[in-house]
Amino acid sequence: MIKIDNFNKLIVANWKLNGDLALINDFKDRIKPENLNINNNCLIICPPAPYISYFTGDDYILGSQDCSVYNEGAYTGEISAKILKEIGCETCIIGHSERRIIFKENENSDLISKKLRNCLNNELIPILCIGENIDQKRKKMTKITLKNQLNIISKDFNHKNLIIAYEPVWAIGTGLIPSLDEISSNLDFIRNDVLRDKKIKILYGGSVKGSNYKSILNLDSVDGLLIGGASINIDDFSKIINF
Ligand code: PGA
Repeated sequence: MIKIDNFNKLIVANWKLNGDLALINDFKDRIKPENLNINNNCLIICPPAPYISYFTGDDYILGSQDCSVYNEGAYTGEISAKILKEIGCETCIIGHSERRIIFKENENSDLISKKLRNCLNNELIPILCIGENIDQKRKKMTKITLKNQLNIISKDFNHKNLIIAYEPVWAIGTGLIPSLDEISSNLDFIRNDVLRDKKIKILYGGSVKGSNYKSILNLDSVDGLLIGGASINIDDFSKIINF
């Protein structure tokens, strides 16, 4: 298992259902993670699953965007945490809001909790996504929502092997971002009040771009960024990883 506490800031590229071989070649030509490594920062690349093997674990830390709740068997189309580990993945995004919303029955808290366990049993670091939607934000229910979403983390979980990504649903792909104070306050809440672990790694995600990443990444409470749209825009992304 990679030791995530060795890293300073973590940048995660979530390509979602985007990208092709041409983008992979362009990305590999122009995005060189060495600069990040010098300062103990790291780049985790999460392309669509069939493309993961086009990247090598020597240059990038590889991640999947999801894994199955099943470990093996007659589950056509599923990809297990064990397979992901075997092809070189070190991390796996779990509970992304797009999956929670679009694939409801496959991404409820019970199943998310099973996926977390599957990851840990197969030495994959889960990147657990949590965040409030616009309705919850308007009703001032952000903190209770985050607390509820974190209920699945039982006491025996080793926080050293877990990354949390705070991604307000209303900020994903919309160009909207919370104020820096809001980000800090929500991350402090997760770290100090819910998980009570000063060292837990927490990322921010939602409309991070070349024009706004710096002030977010400079917040003490932010251990890194989970980046969707801007991670497939090579010009924008190369700015971000050369911070
Ligand atoms: P975005 O997506 O950067 O395109 O807002 C972030 C995410 O969904 O992880």
